[in-house]
Amino acid sequence: MSETFFHTQIGADIEEAARWLEAGQCVAIPTETVYGLAANALEPAAVVRIFETKNRPAFDPLIVHVLDAAAAEAYAEAFPPLLRRLAGRFWPGPLTILLPKKAIVPDLVTSGLARVALRAPAHPLARRLLARLPFPLAAPSANPFGYVSPTTAQHVYEQLQGKIPYILDGGPCAVGIESTIVGTEDDALVIYRLGGVPIEAIEKEVSTPLVVRSHSASNPAAPGMLTTHYAPRKRLLLWPSADHWPTSAQEPKLGLLLFQRRQQLPPHTRCIVLSETGDLAEAAQNLFAALRTFDSADDVETIWAEQCPDTGLGRAINDRLRRAAARMA
Ligand code: TXA
Ligand code: MG
Repeated sequence: MSETFFHTQIGADIEEAARWLEAGQCVAIPTETVYGLAANALEPAAVVRIFETKNRPAFDPLIVHVLDAAAAEAYAEAFPPLLRRLAGRFWPGPLTILLPKKAIVPDLVTSGLARVALRAPAHPLARRLLARLPFPLAAPSANPFGYVSPTTAQHVYEQLQGKIPYILDGGPCAVGIESTIVGTEDDALVIYRLGGVPIEAIEKEVSTPLVVRSHSASNPAAPGMLTTHYAPRKRLLLWPSADHWPTSAQEPKLGLLLFQRRQQLPPHTRCIVLSETGDLAEAAQNLFAALRTFDSADDVETIWAEQCPDTGLGRAINDRLRRAAARMA
C-alpha cells in the first residue's frame, strides 16, 4: 500500500476526529492512561492502517475501546460474572478485559486469538467520541512499536506527524501508564499486564485466586509483555541502591531518574524527580515524559533509574523500568 502524507493537525474537535475515523483513517486519541492510535475496529482496512502506521507486527493484538459494559456485549460471546464485576467496579477506567470474541470482531484485531481485549476508557473526550461513533475503536498506544507510550498530544506529534491526519488533544494523561490487562484461565483470575489499576484494588474486589503472569518474557497471550517493550533509545540501568551514587566521573553524561526527592544528590548530573513527595500516582503520570526528556537530551547518554516501592502503581512503574532496562541486557 502506498503511504499517504498528511498535514497532521492537533485539536480538540470531536467532529473532525469522527469524520476521519468514519473515512477509515487513523486518529490519535487521548485516554486517561496513554494516547491511543485509533481506527474503526470492525473495518479490517482501517485496522491494517494501525499496524502500518506503528510498524507493529501482526502477531500483536489490539485493544478494542467501547463506551461501557453494555457496548462490550456486542463483541464478547460471554461475559463471566467475575469479569463483569471487575468491569462494574473499574469501567470506565484503566482496566482491559479479555473475553471470548464474537465473529464480528475481525481476526486481524485479535491476531487470530480467540479472545478480544476490551476496555472502556475514562477520558471525557474519548467517551464523547465513542458515544458519537457507530463502531468501537481499536487502539494500541500511539507510539512506534517497542518505544515509550505517549502521554501528551505533542509526544504523538513528534513521532507520527505526517502519518496520521488528526491528533485529538485531551491534555496530559492523568494515569500515565497503560491499562491493567485481566482475563480468566480455568478458575483463576490472571493479570497479563500490570497497569493503571493496582493488583491490590482488584484483590479487594474478588476472592478468586489471582495469578500475575506479566513477568514472563515470552507469553504469547499478550506480546506487550515482551521484555524489551516500553524502551527509550538510550541505555537505561536500574539503580541498585541509593547508597551507591553513580558519579559523573564514573559515567559521563548521566541522567538520574529518581522516584522521589533526595536530600543529597550526586553533583554534576541531570536529575528528574518523578514525584517530589514520593506519590506513586504522580510518579506514574510523569514516567514516560521523563524517559522522553532524557532520550532527547544531548547531555545524557545513560539513564540510571531508581525503582519505586513495589506496591500499588509502583509495581507497574517498576515493570516498565525493568523492561526498558532489559533491552540492554
Ligand atoms: O492503556 C492502554 O491499554 C492503552 C490505551 C490506548 O488504551 N493501550 C495500549 O495498547 O497500551 P497496546 O497495544 O500498546 O498494548 C495492548 C496490549 C498488548 O500487549 C497486546 O498484546 C495485548 O494488550 N492484547 C491485546 N489484545 C489481546 C488479546 N486478544 N489477547 C491477549 N493480549 C492482548
Ligand atoms: Mg503499546
